[in-house]
Amino acid sequence: MRSELRWKLCWENELDIIDHVDPPEFFRKAYGPTGVFNTKLFSGSQSWARRADNVHWQATGFDKGARAAMKSQRPAVLWFTGLSGSGKSTIANALDRLLHARGKHTYILDGDNVRHGLNRDLGFNQSDRVENIRRVAEVAKLMADAGLIVLVSLISPFRGERRMARELMEEGEFIEIFVDTPLEECARRDPKGLYRKAFAGKIANFTGVSSPYEIPESPELQLETVGHDPAALAFEIEQFLERRMEQSDA
Ligand SMILES: Nc1ncnc2c1ncn2[C@@H]1O[C@H](COP(=O)(O)OP(=O)(O)O)[C@@H](O)[C@H]1O
Ligand SMILES: [Mg+2]
Repeated sequence: MRSELRWKLCWENELDIIDHVDPPEFFRKAYGPTGVFNTKLFSGSQSWARRADNVHWQATGFDKGARAAMKSQRPAVLWFTGLSGSGKSTIANALDRLLHARGKHTYILDGDNVRHGLNRDLGFNQSDRVENIRRVAEVAKLMADAGLIVLVSLISPFRGERRMARELMEEGEFIEIFVDTPLEECARRDPKGLYRKAFAGKIANFTGVSSPYEIPESPELQLETVGHDPAALAFEIEQFLERRMEQSDA
């Protein structure tokens, strides 16, 4: 049997291919006189296919190192955490522009934007928040694997969730950036009018108001925003990345 046909049958019947031996007689039996594919026959060890309850990792040709080397950069996941209005998106955007000007390949995963697409089915209860972070972290991991410098901007208020994201990445790849702005200042800025609503009791589980924010214990970078220009803070992160690149070259 031609392998494309075999792939098609496996795909349509949710089966994994487990070997590359052609079993024409087995296949004829599977279809039988009715012409209906009988997946029950595909359970024994003789079979070349089985139900996809055991998903395997498919190795790919090029590794992360090769992809990153092509871009002359070291992949990273820059994880901006902080209260709403602390400045995560503003600083991430400024850094993105800086890195772009230096010829670096980047991508921004902004919590607000991701909730319009990939995570549009998720709300703000505890389990949805964890799933929101898990998905963003997994996407960031894939992008880092593609050799990119990924800028993630997510309140991510709980240490456990940030740890989960960190543990997904390779050693030294996850860079936690605490955008450190006091609650009073965030509420004063209130760029989206959310604090006003939250203080009026109109938003449940609002971080800093009706839900806690757990301050990072040992972030790679801590940026105090009051009295500092976002562009200067972005430059500070860029310097950090430069040093990190030099260390990996040494
Ligand atoms: N040093 C600073 N860094 C970042 N944002 C600042 C700074 N100073 C003032 N801001 C203002 O604070 C607000 C932060 O909003 P935003 O970046 O959307 O926050 P977040 O993404 O954390 O919710 C913006 O209006 C920005 O102009
Ligand atoms: Mg934001």
